[in-house]
Amino acid sequence: MRIDFFTLFGEWFDWFGGQRHVRNALEHGSELRYVNYRDSTPLSGRQVDDSPYGGGAGMVLRVDVVDAALRAVYGEDSPARVILLTPAGRPFDERLAAELAAEPHLALLCGRYEGVDERVRAHLVDDAISVGPYVLSGGELAAMVVADAVIRKLPGSLGHADSAVEESFSAALGGLPEYPHYTRPASYRGWGVPEVLLSGDHAKVAEWRRVRSRERAEPG
Ligand code: ADE
Repeated sequence: MRIDFFTLFGEWFDWFGGQRHVRNALEHGSELRYVNYRDSTPLSGRQVDDSPYGGGAGMVLRVDVVDAALRAVYGEDSPARVILLTPAGRPFDERLAAELAAEPHLALLCGRYEGVDERVRAHLVDDAISVGPYVLSGGELAAMVVADAVIRKLPGSLGHADSAVEESFSAALGGLPEYPHYTRPASYRGWGVPEVLLSGDHAKVAEWRRVRSRERAEPG
């Protein structure tokens, strides 16, 4: 898979690209690229934003700037699924992560400032995604959240092949949250571990996990 991040702050991704599971994915053939809107802006002085029509605080990322960046990388027709990160987007969840992980090529567009000209969403992207009902200072962290959830689904990303199979919201758990985990010591400050997990009875362990998983899906 190839993921292109369109951003004004490529350095935000330095840390992300260095993480073990991301490097694993890269070693297995995935590719990450970073595109700075300023590098292809048609405006002078590397300008990318402007004040909003109708007035108001803050600056808005311009549609011609975003279009120029996409054209500079893809030409007339984008081979990527182009996604805008915005708090007003479709909520990101595990199902959407799995859907995106099946794509060969993603373009994640990070907004900044007050927002992004609405014509970007209307004409230039295939999807708009929100990582939660709160406003971040830009789309960079949101893009990393999306990329992280997607990349860990790629073959070779996680060290242990099974670890992404039976985890929260996975198909193996029927879309339910994951069951609780315990490890040594069996007793710590008087806090024990459920007996069944120490029993060696795999069927009972599996049943216990199914029940706990269901309980977590219906809290209270
Ligand atoms: N940009 C700013 N806030 C965001 C959010 N919650 N989700 C996606 N992109 C964003």
